[in-house]
Amino acid sequence: MEHGQNLNSFYTLDNAQDKSISFIPQNYVIPKMHRPNLAPQYANLAAIDMAALKNGSTSRSHVIREIRDACRRLGFFQVVNHGVSESVLDEALTVASKFFDLPTKEKMELMSNDVHKPVRCGTSIKDGVDKVQFWRVFLKHYAHPLKDWVHMWPENPKDYREKMGRYCQEVKKVGLEVMKAIIESLELNPSYITKEIEDGMQVMAVNCYPPCPQPEIALGLPPHSDYSCLTILYQSCQGLQIMDFEDNTWKAIPHIPGALQVHVGDHFEVLSNGLYKSIVHRATLNRDSTRISLTSLFSLGMDDKMETAKELVDDQNPKKYRESSFRDFLDFLSTNDFSEGNNNFIDILKIKNYN
Ligand code: OGA
Ligand code: NI
Repeated sequence: MEHGQNLNSFYTLDNAQDKSISFIPQNYVIPKMHRPNLAPQYANLAAIDMAALKNGSTSRSHVIREIRDACRRLGFFQVVNHGVSESVLDEALTVASKFFDLPTKEKMELMSNDVHKPVRCGTSIKDGVDKVQFWRVFLKHYAHPLKDWVHMWPENPKDYREKMGRYCQEVKKVGLEVMKAIIESLELNPSYITKEIEDGMQVMAVNCYPPCPQPEIALGLPPHSDYSCLTILYQSCQGLQIMDFEDNTWKAIPHIPGALQVHVGDHFEVLSNGLYKSIVHRATLNRDSTRISLTSLFSLGMDDKMETAKELVDDQNPKKYRESSFRDFLDFLSTNDFSEGNNNFIDILKIKNYN
């Protein structure tokens, strides 16, 4: 526990988990114009068949085209036949949920608002600091290479390291395949930044959204795009919504057991010079059930700068973004108040005259 943190937020959310409150505290109430529609249309998502991406498969070029279309149209798609077994997915969800069921005191030992820490637990985005608080408890930890970080992960529940570690390793493989396919879909050399991506960061954000007695006036996470190259998410039930920029409306992502949800992040928007957009998304809440999401954010190394690919810049398409690293994002995160409105990392990367 550190200065500036609010013990009450932890107790509030742990009590919500036990459904012992009927109203949310005032600091969780979202301003009227930003309140969520809890039953929007479903997003029309491409389901990318990873088996058809295998080397030597005649269907690879077809799938690469589907990925290109999905990245341009929405910046979001699902992957199926990805090779992560249902037992690995289920066990990771189970240990995550057992972690959030630990006594408040025990979780609080990992609590920190210092965004540079490789393992930390908290609520909202910054506990007790941001003006509006979000209805979320999270555990974040670095995950690649696993052996460098796993000893710092929670010791309880006893099988957390093993089960979450397995999920992280498997989802990393999926992430790599998808990132390579996206690079190919941009018609860049297939080995373009492959090494930096393979050796890059994997941050796990394990999110718990307790039942909320007033889900129509609160949010689990406000609208944002991820700083990553790519994010892969597995959710225990519905709650994720994405902004469809074709008609500027929020769309719900259905829970499809076994499917993984893929977001294009800010760093791939930068790489593609804006051809692919990072998807704006938010987490809504359920009145009666707890929702868990396993979010895996893939980026280059801590200090590697992501730059727009020179191959995608010419007289008609001038460079639209500044370069930046994961560390630059962390510095931004530590000073930004997301509850104040539209402060996204990508906005500070845009070169004004071209956006
Ligand atoms: C995130 C995120 C959404 C969710 O962790 O960045 O957007 O549904 N999570 O948990
Ligand atoms: Ni996100």
